[in-house]
Amino acid sequence: MSSNHSPLYATRIDLAETIRIQTIAILNQTLASTIDLQTQVKQAHWNVKGHNFYQLHLLFDAMATELEEFVDMVAERITALGGYALGTARIAAKQSELEEYVFDAVEGMDHIAALADRFAIFAKSIRQNIHQTADLGDADTTDLYTEVSRAIDKRLWFLEAHLQTSAIHTQAHSIAAYTFGVV
Ligand SMILES: [Fe+2]
Repeated sequence: MSSNHSPLYATRIDLAETIRIQTIAILNQTLASTIDLQTQVKQAHWNVKGHNFYQLHLLFDAMATELEEFVDMVAERITALGGYALGTARIAAKQSELEEYVFDAVEGMDHIAALADRFAIFAKSIRQNIHQTADLGDADTTDLYTEVSRAIDKRLWFLEAHLQTSAIHTQAHSIAAYTFGVV
């Protein structure tokens, strides 16, 4: 079954069929990418080496668990809309917006950088989905995407905090100017 030919069930939900069809398609795309990302984070959890092994092993596991909850949330929004959730490993591999994981990653920073790249792509996609579903008029799915977006941005910060060793001074100055009204 392709994602273009998944069934739509009759439902008493008060959202138009055209809205449901488009929203379900967006959600199934997210489902594939989220499953892919979750398994890639688990890959990092298992294979990370180096002197930060244990803290990263734990961090990656917490991130994978969070993504697993999002997988379920996205899939069950699809079914709540009368759609068919397309969430097997094969479909995820075929439909995901992400590249395959980097198999030569060994040390902690290799995994951090690889995951930060993928979280950034995923975060961008989720933010686009906020606007797409808002335009379609499904506020609940928009709310779901906003919740996921906030969590993914936070995880991107967690990852990048390992990589950010010095501030870009001009940007830091601009933030201070906005905040305190100093130029
Ligand atoms: Fe584990």
